[in-house]
Amino acid sequence: MDTAIIGGTGFDAPDALSIARRERVTTPYGAPSADIALGKIGARAVAFLPRHGARHNLPPQQVNYRANIWALQRLGITRVIALAAVGGIARTLRPGDLVIPHQIIDYTWGRAHTFFDGDSAMARHIDFTNPYSEAARAAILRAADAGRIAVRRAGVYAATQGPRLETAAEIDRLERDGADIVGMTGMPEAALARELDMEYAAIAMVVNPAAGRSKRGIHMEMIAKHLAITGAKAMEIIKRL
Ligand code: HPA
Repeated sequence: MDTAIIGGTGFDAPDALSIARRERVTTPYGAPSADIALGKIGARAVAFLPRHGARHNLPPQQVNYRANIWALQRLGITRVIALAAVGGIARTLRPGDLVIPHQIIDYTWGRAHTFFDGDSAMARHIDFTNPYSEAARAAILRAADAGRIAVRRAGVYAATQGPRLETAAEIDRLERDGADIVGMTGMPEAALARELDMEYAAIAMVVNPAAGRSKRGIHMEMIAKHLAITGAKAMEIIKRL
């Protein structure tokens, strides 16, 4: 087993995962979001961690990203595939689309965002030029192609603080900055994985038009509907991965 899935909203307990056991990992940073499920998807052993907790009780700013990534590495994981619900900023994106992002802009603040902290920490400045692992991205794209599942092959992910959604002006600014999609959990998760030399890539599931991008506004029913649609597509990709 080398791969872990970090499940996002709408992906807390995937049907295709048969769980053999659950591992409670304690870390120097506190408890991970949940016990880590060890099991199989098809014939392949995987680890699974629901980012928002087993009962979906952790909002984005309260997720213990350090504990999650540390615990996965402790179990021998070297590759993380993260699922993330996002709003669509790019005008060509529709709810129901999947994006395999290649870049990140971090707008989060006040989150424990590094392992290289505290008195004894050695300063280490990771190269984050390309925040996602190209090898992991390529594997996701191959799996999507094999399953004939349409995905955007690149995109810039804006990580916002949440838990509130953005204002229309904030989304306009993110667009001017070059962002295509917006979510609340992509950072510091990606950077922490890089700090521990783990491969990390994401499948972003567009579940709503970002604020100000639709006359109808953002509705929970719309989000729930597109979580189901995109979650099923993401699972098809993961099964082939
Ligand atoms: N903004 C931020 N995070 C999100 C959104 C959004 O519109 N949709 C799903 N996660």
